[in-house]
This record gives sequence, structure tokens and C-alpha cells, in this order.
Amino acid sequence: MYTKEIENAAEHFKKLLQKQLERNDAIKTQGDFTDYSALDKIVIGICGGDGIGPVITAESARVLKFLLNRDVEKGRIVFKTIEGLTIENRIAHMQPIPDDVLAELKTCDVILKGPTTTPQAGDGRPNIESANVAMRKALDLFANVRPVRIPAEGIDWTFFRENTEGAYAVGSDGVNVTDDLAFDFVVTTTEGTERIARLAYNYARANKKDRVSIIQKANVIKTTDGKFLNICKEVAKDYPEITTDEWYIDITTAKLIDKKRRTDFKVFVLPNLYGDIITDEAAEFQGGVGTAGSANIGKKYAMFEAIHGSAPRMVAEGRAQYADPCSMLRASAMLLSHIGYIEESKALDKALDICMFENGKYKITGRADGCTCSEFGDYVMETLTALSSGRA
Ligand code: IPM
Ligand code: MG
Repeated sequence: MYTKEIENAAEHFKKLLQKQLERNDAIKTQGDFTDYSALDKIVIGICGGDGIGPVITAESARVLKFLLNRDVEKGRIVFKTIEGLTIENRIAHMQPIPDDVLAELKTCDVILKGPTTTPQAGDGRPNIESANVAMRKALDLFANVRPVRIPAEGIDWTFFRENTEGAYAVGSDGVNVTDDLAFDFVVTTTEGTERIARLAYNYARANKKDRVSIIQKANVIKTTDGKFLNICKEVAKDYPEITTDEWYIDITTAKLIDKKRRTDFKVFVLPNLYGDIITDEAAEFQGGVGTAGSANIGKKYAMFEAIHGSAPRMVAEGRAQYADPCSMLRASAMLLSHIGYIEESKALDKALDICMFENGKYKITGRADGCTCSEFGDYVMETLTALSSGRA
């Protein structure tokens, strides 16, 4: 029974195996991280995306240019606008990232990317892979680093979400074996896990964080989560000064709302899907996904983005100009520190702490009763000027 169906599914699986084995081999031969300090010129790609993306990205680029003005004039920093990463263009090409757009992205050292709209199975649009997910894979951005900080509550978390494997590796390549049986696949590789674990532990060591928590569900998803856990524990042995603990994803989501326990957490390392889910939860404590930035780090490239989506409803209701740029501005601060502009990065984070939380001269509400995205950008730049002259 079902001989043909099983054969077809097995054929499909064989192709996936081939690609994943080749991907794993490519990781093994990968070079080291880019040393930005050694570059004469750093190209920052600005890629607007869909929905409110172009509004909040342009605002963040304006703030970045303001902060980097001196080095832009010297030619050390070059801003490059990348067009064409829109849902319309992606559908026209039937590609998650059209080839010419990808080629342009590859001419940049780092990218600031606005949110992109992802077609969802059954929404009437073609089943194109998410542009985010495709970019993470195409540029091998294996680490998704997401900080969440609430100083007043003692929360200082940094999530190291594995970004190219797990449930996402072949997330658009599952198989409907019959009309009744659907199969997806989860992928864990030794090298893929080792590199995210090392990045998390190196970060903990460099920033004097004394705990790393390995989050998984190895009691049920035994093969892939089991491998993830074991490899992280192997890496942990090289960091004896750091306490390592292991948590299942379900209880972790609960402990994040346990006020007595949650401040124990510092650094998390976790597979892709769990990282996706729990970083939205974590960002919510800080004021929502609109307040959180995200760094997608690879050895050669890095991309910085908001953790939220493109908010098509805001655009449909004519409210795009009131979009909150804070997530993209936080992502911009991460971009600055990644390319070695540490002082500028700290200043931007500090200005955001003031503009978002302290004196509230302008409030973003997403509607006409709040300020516009560009008024908020002006306010951030005024605050940066005041900080540098000691007035804030
Ligand atoms: C994120 C987003 C993406 C993800 C979506 C847009 C594909 O939720 O960056 O967390 O699932 O990774
Ligand atoms: Mg998400």
C-alpha cells in the first residue's frame, strides 16, 4: 500500500538530505568573522521591505547617517539603498529574494532591513519562503541575537537563537505524503550548533555574564534537540567559570513570567523556533515587539532588523507615518557596535532609553494622537546632540 506515495516522499527527502549535507560541509570550511576594523570602507545596505518597513528603515538610516556623519564624509562609511525586496517584486520573480536583489545585498558588509511580508499557507498568495528566512540562509546569518533589558526589574537577557537550522532549515520544503499526511523536517548539525553555542558563551565571557541557559525539548524531540543540548554542553566545558543550566522550552516560557526566578537568567542559547517564540514573549515585558531590535550575525555578513512584522494594517488604514521606529533604532545600535562604533552605539541606546521611557516629550502611539515616526527621529537626534554636549 502507498508504494508510490512513499517513493515520492522518499525522493523528496533524498534531495533535502543532499542539500543539508552540502550545507553542513560548507560550514566546516567557513572562514573567520569579518574584522571590520581592518576594512578601509564599510558598506551599509539599507533595505526598506514592506508595509511600515520603508518608513521606519528610512528614519533609522537618517539617525545612523547623523551619528556616522564624519566617517561618511571621509568615505569610510558608505550607505547603499537596496531596492526590490518587496512582496510585489518577490511574487513577480517567484523568489523569496530576487537574484539581482541578493547580488546587491552581497555587495554590502552589513544590512539594515525593514520587516518584510511573508505569505502564509492558504492566504491566496504563492507559497514563497519568508524573505527574512531566505536572507538568513543565503548570507549564512547563523546567530540571531536579541537583547531584552528592563533595568528597573533586574532583567538583562540576551537570546542567542540559532538562525539557519531547526524547524526553519527546510520549513518551506515539507511534504504532503498523501492528502491526509503532512511531514515537516527539523535539522540539527554538529557544526551549526557548535558555532551558535560558542558565540553565546564567548558573549557571556566577554560581558561577564555568569550563566548560560540551554533551552530545548530534548525529552520529546530526542534526536535534533538532544543533539543541540549535548553539543552545547560540550562547548560549555570550555567555559568553566560560567554556570550552565538546561531548561525545557515549556517551563522556560513559564519562568520568564516568574518575577522571583526570571532575573537569574542571563544568556540563552536555543534552537530556531523556540527562539522565535520566546523572544516575542520576552520583548513584551520590555514594552512590546516594537521596542526590540535583532542582530542576524554570520561570519561574512550581518543583518539588523526589527523583531516584528510589516504591519500591513497600519498602511491600509493610512497610519504608516505614525509607525514606531524604536525596534529599528535598537537594531541600528546593534549594527553600530557590530562594526566597531561602540561609543555611537552606546549613545544611541542611551538616547533611546531617554526618548522611550524617561521624559516622554514625544509619545508614539501608532495613531494621530501620537507623534510621527520622523518627529520621533528628530527627537532622538536632538537627544544625541544634548548627550554629546552634556546637556541630557
Ligand atoms: C522573526 C520573525 C520571522 C521568523 C518571520 C517573519 C519569518 O517572526 O524574525 O522572529 O519567524 O523568524
Ligand atoms: Mg518572530
